Amino acid sequence: MKTTAAITGVQGYLPDHILSNEDLSKIVDTSDEWITSRTGIKERRVMKDGASSDMGAEAVKGLLEKTNTSADEIDLVIVATVTPDYPFPSTSNVICDKVGMKNAWGYDLIAACSGFIYGLATGAQFIETGRYKKVIVVGVDKMTSIIDYQDRTTCVIFGDGCGAVMLEPDTEGFGVQDFLLHADGSGRQYLIQPAGGSANPASKETVEQRGHFVKQEGKQVFKFAVTNMADVSAEIMEKNNLTSDDVDWLVPHQANLRIIDATANRMGLSKEKVMINIQKYGNTTAGTLPLCLWDYEKQLKKGDNIILSAFGGGFTWGAVYLKWAYNS
Ligand code: UT7
Repeated sequence: MKTTAAITGVQGYLPDHILSNEDLSKIVDTSDEWITSRTGIKERRVMKDGASSDMGAEAVKGLLEKTNTSADEIDLVIVATVTPDYPFPSTSNVICDKVGMKNAWGYDLIAACSGFIYGLATGAQFIETGRYKKVIVVGVDKMTSIIDYQDRTTCVIFGDGCGAVMLEPDTEGFGVQDFLLHADGSGRQYLIQPAGGSANPASKETVEQRGHFVKQEGKQVFKFAVTNMADVSAEIMEKNNLTSDDVDWLVPHQANLRIIDATANRMGLSKEKVMINIQKYGNTTAGTLPLCLWDYEKQLKKGDNIILSAFGGGFTWGAVYLKWAYNS
C-alpha cells in the first residue's frame, strides 16, 4: 500500500488570560448579546507576555512528550501564522531553537485562516514521498498583537492560541487522503493587515492611520466564506464518494457559528458531528483547526473519516480529507 501521512498526535496551547464579552463591552460599544448572536463567541484568550513562538514551543514540547519523540528526531517544522515573531527570521526557526530541534529545518506559511490546511497538505507531501519520517505542522496566531481595540467590528472576533500535529508515514491507509486548496488574491481588499510589509513599510503615518491592525469588511468576507467553505467541503466529499453517513467529523474553521452551520448543512451533517469551540477561544486564525482536534481528540476513533475545512484572508480556502490514525 502506498505511504500516507498520518496525524499521530495533537497538542494545543492556550494562554491563561480570558477576555470575556462582558470585558469587551467595557472597552468598545458592544454587548454579550450582539457578539453571541452574530458569532457564537463568549470568550477568547489573550497572551499577555511572549510571542507566537512561545505558544508554538509549548505546544511542540507537549506534542513531543505525548508522542514519545525526542527533539532530535524531527525533520521539518511548518508554522502557519500571520503573526510571526518577526518578518524574519521565521517563527519556525525560533521554535526549533526554543525546543532544541537541532536536526530540523522549517519555514513559515502565510495563508491566514486557511494556514493549517495549507500546512497540513504541504507537510503531508514530505512524508508521502518518503523523504521524511517526522514532520510537525503548527498553526499559531497571537491575533491580539494585530487587533485594533478601537474597532468593535474586529476586536470581538479574534483571540490567541496554538495547535500542533505530528505527521508520520502510514502504510495501512490512514492519514491524509485528499485535499482541495484554493486562493483568490483579489479578496485582499476585504481582509488585510495593510501596513508593515514592503507595500507600506512602517512609518509614523502608518502607525497614525492604524495600518498595522487587521482591517476587515465583515459582510463581504462572510458572503465569500459561507459559499466557498460550504462548496469546497461538499466538493471533497463528492470527489471521494463520501456520503454524509460516511463522514464522522467536520472540523471547520472557527470564524463564525453561522458559517459553520451553513457548511455542516451543505454537507448534510448533524450537529453532533461538528467540532465547535468558538465559544471558548474565538477565531485564533491558524490555530482553530488543530485546537479543535486537540479538544475532541478523546472522542476520535481510529478510522474516523474527518473533513477539515477553512476560509480566510487572501482569500484562501480549502478542505482536507483524512482518516484518523489512532485511538487515544
Ligand atoms: O476568519 C477569517 C474570515 N473571517 C470571517 O469569516 C468573518 C466573516 N464575517 C463575519 O463573521 C460577520 O460579518 C461579523 C461577525 C464580522 C459581523 O456580523 P454581521 O452580521 O455581518 O454584522 P455587520 O458587519 O453587518 O454589522 C451589523 C451592525 C452594524 O450596525 P448598523 O450599521 O446596522 O447600525 C454594525 O455597526 O452591527 C454593528 N456592529 C456591532 N454592534 C455591536 C458591528 N460590530 C459590532 C459589535 N457590537 N462588536
